[in-house]
Amino acid sequence: MLDSIKNLIAEANEFKANSSSELEEFRIRHFSKKGSLAQLFNDFKDVPNEKKKEVGQALNELKQAIQAKIDSLKDAFSGQETVTLNKDLSLPAESSMNGSRHPISIVRGEILDIFSRLGFTVSEGPEIEDDWHVFTSLNFPPEHPARDMQDTFFIEKNPDILLRTHTSSIQVRVMENTKPPIRTISPGRVFRNEAISARAHCIFHQVEGLYIDENVSFADLKQTLLYFAKEMFGESTQIRLRPSYFPFTEPSAEMDVSCALCGGKGCNVCKYTGWLEVLGCGMVDPAVLENNNIDSKKYTGFAFGMGIERLTMLKFQIRDLRLYFENDARFLRQFSGSF
Ligand code: DAH
Repeated sequence: MLDSIKNLIAEANEFKANSSSELEEFRIRHFSKKGSLAQLFNDFKDVPNEKKKEVGQALNELKQAIQAKIDSLKDAFSGQETVTLNKDLSLPAESSMNGSRHPISIVRGEILDIFSRLGFTVSEGPEIEDDWHVFTSLNFPPEHPARDMQDTFFIEKNPDILLRTHTSSIQVRVMENTKPPIRTISPGRVFRNEAISARAHCIFHQVEGLYIDENVSFADLKQTLLYFAKEMFGESTQIRLRPSYFPFTEPSAEMDVSCALCGGKGCNVCKYTGWLEVLGCGMVDPAVLENNNIDSKKYTGFAFGMGIERLTMLKFQIRDLRLYFENDARFLRQFSGSF
C-alpha cells in the first residue's frame, strides 16, 4: 500500500493539465467519493497497527500533493473559461423593469425644491386635527359660513376632532412652536367630504407656505410667487393676482399663471382664457398672528396654499383626478423618466 501511495504522490506532482476540464477530471479521480483517496482511507483500517503511523503520514502527504496541484493549476485556468452560450448575441438586450415615482410625488418634490432654494424649510403636521388648528385659530368664527367652504369629515363632536381640510393647520402648529422669523413650506394630505369625480376627490394633497418677519409686504409675496411660477412652468410664465377671500388672510388673492400650452392665446386647457388658476394667497390676518402669540404690530407675513393634484394636472396634462388613486401601472409607467 505504501508503494502505491508513493506512486500516486509522484504522479500527482508530475500531473499537467491543458484545460480546466482536465483538471476537474484529476480532482474527481482523487477526491470524489469513489476516488483514490477515499479508497485508500478505506483500506487504511486494515493496515497493521505498527505500520499505521508511516502509512498515515504518506496518505496525508498524498492528499496535500493533490490539493497543492489543484490550487496551482486552478489559478492558471481561472478567467479562461470558455462558456458556450446558446443565445444570439446580436439580439437586443432584455429590458429591465424600472419603477417610477408617482406624479404627485414628483411635483411635490419639485415644489419643495423650488421653495427650499428661497430659504423655506419643510414642516409637517398631523392629518387628524382639532377644531382650533383647522378653523378657530385661523379666524373661522363658530357658525361662520366660511366653514361650509370645506366639507369636513368629523371623527368626534364636542370637542371636535376631524380630518384636516387644508394644510393651513400646519401654519398654526409652526406659529405655536417657532418665534419669527418663520419661513416654512408644509406639504400634506387633506380630506374633504366631496363626491369623487374627474375634477374632485375626497383625499388630495396641498402645499402651504408661510413667511413671517418684520416688514414683510405684499410685494414680497408677489415676487416669491412669480419666482415659483417661472421655475415650475417655465421662464416665460406670467402671473396675475385676483382679489379673493380667505378668513385667515387680509387682503387675499388667487393667483393665475399664463397658460404654458397656448402661451396665453387661449386653448381648451385654459378654457380659452389664457390663464390657469393655481393657488390662494394673502397677507396673514393680524388676528391669526395674535391667536398664536405673535405681535402683529411688530410682525407681518404672507401665506399661500396650493393643490398638488391641480398643479400636476397642469404640468402633465392629466384630465382625470381619479387616475392618481387607481395605481394603474400603465398610467404610472409614463412617469418613469420624469426624475
Ligand atoms: N387653505 C386654502 C384652501 O384650502 C388655501 C389657502 C389660501 C392657503 C390662501 C393659504 C392662503 O395659506 O393664504 O383652499
